[in-house]
Amino acid sequence: MSLPQIGFGTYKLNGALGVNAINSALNCGYRLIDTAFNYENEGTVGEAIRRSGIAREQIIISSKLPGRHHHYEEALTTIQESLYRAGLDYYDLYLIHWPNPKENLYVEAWQALITAQKLGLVREIGVSNFLPAHINRLISETGVKPAVNQIELHPYFSEPELRVFDQQNKILTWAWSPLGRASSVLNDPIIAGIADDVQRSIGQVILRWEIQLGVLPIPKSTHTSRQIENLNIFDFQLSGEQMQTITNLERPDGRLQNQDPAEYEEF
Ligand SMILES: NC(=O)c1ccc[n+]([C@@H]2O[C@H](COP(=O)([O-])OP(=O)(O)OC[C@H]3O[C@@H](n4cnc5c(N)ncnc54)[C@H](OP(=O)(O)O)[C@@H]3O)[C@@H](O)[C@H]2O)c1
Repeated sequence: MSLPQIGFGTYKLNGALGVNAINSALNCGYRLIDTAFNYENEGTVGEAIRRSGIAREQIIISSKLPGRHHHYEEALTTIQESLYRAGLDYYDLYLIHWPNPKENLYVEAWQALITAQKLGLVREIGVSNFLPAHINRLISETGVKPAVNQIELHPYFSEPELRVFDQQNKILTWAWSPLGRASSVLNDPIIAGIADDVQRSIGQVILRWEIQLGVLPIPKSTHTSRQIENLNIFDFQLSGEQMQTITNLERPDGRLQNQDPAEYEEF
């Protein structure tokens, strides 16, 4: 599957305001839209796509299986429900949202995604918030590798080991909260200095750094001006030194909400 280099996140974009924001993003040129069963906005995404008038096959849509439905039969039913909510015939990508290792059902959920792919409900399957040990288990127990691993990634938490693991296994890393969900990173003085040097905004520099790392960011914005700003990152380059300066901002406790997939569970 060929993917755009950047996608659009939709967490918290619900109802009529959500339809307007996603419709605006499509008009700006985004062609990859990320949703999840748990965002309760698959219907909003489907409505925005229909209103855009853009052909379905020109848009990549990803959704995610929630932790409470990892049992095989429930997972398949949930994927069908996801499609009904969006009014779609298929998702381009469907991901397991969190591994929930204490529940230890993610291999069963993966088997359901493999079946859903065979049934044509989803084109490609992947994971989110999976650590190498979780992915290795999927591969050894099913022989099927995820296409994508969507993980928390921003300048204070850039996941170097996981990126190398994904690259070695030809799994595309996606960055969630690529702008740190508008936290202090968007005021970071060091990134502000680089932004001055390249005559761009801090957000643009962060997204460009992610692209040059080989990662696919999915920023969310309700504002058309910011949606455009976040897309306009393909006509400049960061130098090797600027890249390294941003990568060096890594913090040991850099996660936004301490959601370590080895421990944290989401249902
Ligand atoms: N797989 C997972 O577990 C997981 C977890 C979290 C998120 N996600 C996905 O990742 C997507 C993105 O992450 P996110 O929504 O958490 O955070 P984000 O995209 O890092 O940041 C969104 C915030 O940044 C603001 N913003 C956007 N562009 C900006 C710009 N150019 N300048 C200044 N502020 C800007 C937005 O404000 P306005 O809206 O007001 O413009 C919003 O408050 C989500 O929407 C969701 O699809 C997945």
